[in-house]
Amino acid sequence: MSEESEGELEARLPEGESFEPPQSFVEQANVSDEAIYEEFEENWPDCWERAADLIDWEEPYDQVLDDDDAPFYEWFVDGKLNASYNCLDRHIEAGRGDEAAIEWVGEPTDETQTYTYEGLYREVNEFAAALRDMGVEEDDVVTMYMPMIPELPVAMLACARIGAPHSVVFAGFSADALATRMNSADSEYLVTCDGYFRRGDPLNHKEKAEEGLEGVDHEVETVVVDRLGEDLDHDLRDAEHDYDDLVASNAGAEVEPVTRDAEDMLFLMYTSGTTGQPKGVKHTTGGYLSYVAWTSQAVLDVKPDDTYWCSADIGWITGHSYIVYGPLALGTTTVMYEGTPDYPEKDRLWEIVDDYDVTQLYTAPTAIRAFMKWGEQYPEQHDLSSLRLLGTVGEPINPRAWKWYYKHIGDEECPVIDTWWQTETGGMMVTTLPGVGEMKPGSAGPPLPGISANVVDMSGDEVQPGEAGYLTVDRPWPGMLRTLYKNDERFIDEYWTEYSDEDADEWVYFPEDGAKIDEDGYITVLGRVDDVLNVSGHRLGTMELESAIVGVEGVAEAAVVGGKHDIKGEAVYAYVITEDGYEGDEGLRDRIVEGVEDAIGPIARPEEVIFTPELPKTRSGKIMRRLLEDIANGEELGNTSTLRNPEVVRDIENKVRGD
Ligand code: PRX
Repeated sequence: MSEESEGELEARLPEGESFEPPQSFVEQANVSDEAIYEEFEENWPDCWERAADLIDWEEPYDQVLDDDDAPFYEWFVDGKLNASYNCLDRHIEAGRGDEAAIEWVGEPTDETQTYTYEGLYREVNEFAAALRDMGVEEDDVVTMYMPMIPELPVAMLACARIGAPHSVVFAGFSADALATRMNSADSEYLVTCDGYFRRGDPLNHKEKAEEGLEGVDHEVETVVVDRLGEDLDHDLRDAEHDYDDLVASNAGAEVEPVTRDAEDMLFLMYTSGTTGQPKGVKHTTGGYLSYVAWTSQAVLDVKPDDTYWCSADIGWITGHSYIVYGPLALGTTTVMYEGTPDYPEKDRLWEIVDDYDVTQLYTAPTAIRAFMKWGEQYPEQHDLSSLRLLGTVGEPINPRAWKWYYKHIGDEECPVIDTWWQTETGGMMVTTLPGVGEMKPGSAGPPLPGISANVVDMSGDEVQPGEAGYLTVDRPWPGMLRTLYKNDERFIDEYWTEYSDEDADEWVYFPEDGAKIDEDGYITVLGRVDDVLNVSGHRLGTMELESAIVGVEGVAEAAVVGGKHDIKGEAVYAYVITEDGYEGDEGLRDRIVEGVEDAIGPIARPEEVIFTPELPKTRSGKIMRRLLEDIANGEELGNTSTLRNPEVVRDIENKVRGD
């Protein structure tokens, strides 16, 4: 963006200004009456029937919410359904089998594929039959370690069809991360692929999967999708099956969707927490599917005729909820893109919007900051007038990036929704309703209808407008996680101890985010307050990072903090003490970076590795991370007098500033 046009924009859209939703949008919006907030309030929890009504139930539920065993809430009690039926069969029964379900766009510009609902149904059934043949039974966890190829949603829906929960591991995660997750879930089945394209080059993924399997402590049957054909020859080993062969040998198979209880697990999704061990977040069939269908309809304004695009990766919750389950439950067309936004050119996304007449675009602030840096000449090369709504998720969006998105992508004609939610919440929680609420750049908005979110101080009292506090949610919602896989105790510890009053049976969910609220009840989320970093919208636990670094030969101790980063939001800063006899040199730095990539993946690569003889510690021996953060961010250092070793602070500061 040029200096001049940026100044012009800032002048026209000053800080603190708010925007009414464009009239053209409101007129056609799925939800445009603000009375919805009150309707949900007055009717809570029965208001959630409105979400459940968006999906088909084989047997109706008897009760909307059962809170007898809180916080182990149950939603749509005794209802029976199948998620795959809801995403496929019912649209075909409604005569829409020929309409596009998935528009897949490969990274190579000449590779695209359209899956109609009928076509998707066929492949899902064939693969479901194949999984059954392999021995997959109801409630067996099937792991998927796959990039953005159509076989990933096919496999997810095939699992849903036979009642086998899936656990998708982001393809960018390392072999170790795959092994940890498969062991934790006792998962005996893996679906993966030979490789995929990244910036024009074929990338070997199978090798990484094989390496991961070496760390799995039980037998695994693997299915391998051949994505790269001749670009990457591979041999199948024992207990490995070729996806195409499996599907071909089940050609025409029909698999009756298994009747699932509303509370049966639909999938597991691992996410980072405070400890080194990732948390297996459990989502259920009825509550989750209703919730993502409802939020797709009310917030993303999805309609069956839309071509809707969420540019996240299906390896994260955003892709599960808003590429696969939400849009397909509503019978719309969902776009899936394999590659990166800057390949072959920095206008790739805009080219796709133009080519497919995309109606909604849902992306992340980190991407918007990159687009902004590249400049508006890229979107200007394309006709983006098909867009009706823009969304963001994953991290706070700064008002400047918000306004750039609003103007240069939306042409001031599209509402921008800044949606706050988490892996654990299953779907959106805090955002404006695009056809109802005014938008305030930088602030997500009020809690959605039926959601009770507050900003409180440490003792749980609501803070004054403008004051920083902690975000809490004091009523359950259908899309909520039900527990952490096989770890009810950790579920309570992580989310329900901070602000709940167990004796009074009052349960308050703590998402571990800081926030502030304004006079209109708009919530601005400030970021994590636990030891979790948010790097390009991805959650990384500092403990996971530190244990990866300490695992490198020559490292005695490490402390990881987040440093501010223009594009990534936060970047990994690692402070490292070497073992006696080792030098803090380039060689060790490279091995540390490699160690982190091996243990977690390239997304976790440290931005800076700072060797230091000591770490600043309190008298009781606790590392003062806040100080390390201030140093990383070049901020004024607070009081260091409580430190056991205050002299070390200047040394570290000089090193960082000298870099
Ligand atoms: O800190 C919040 C941040 O992302 C965290 C959730 O990360 P994850 O479970 O990976 O899910 C990401 C996609 C839903 C939150 O605890 N976060 C998410 N959305 C926003 C946000 N921070 C500020 N504003 C948002 N809109």
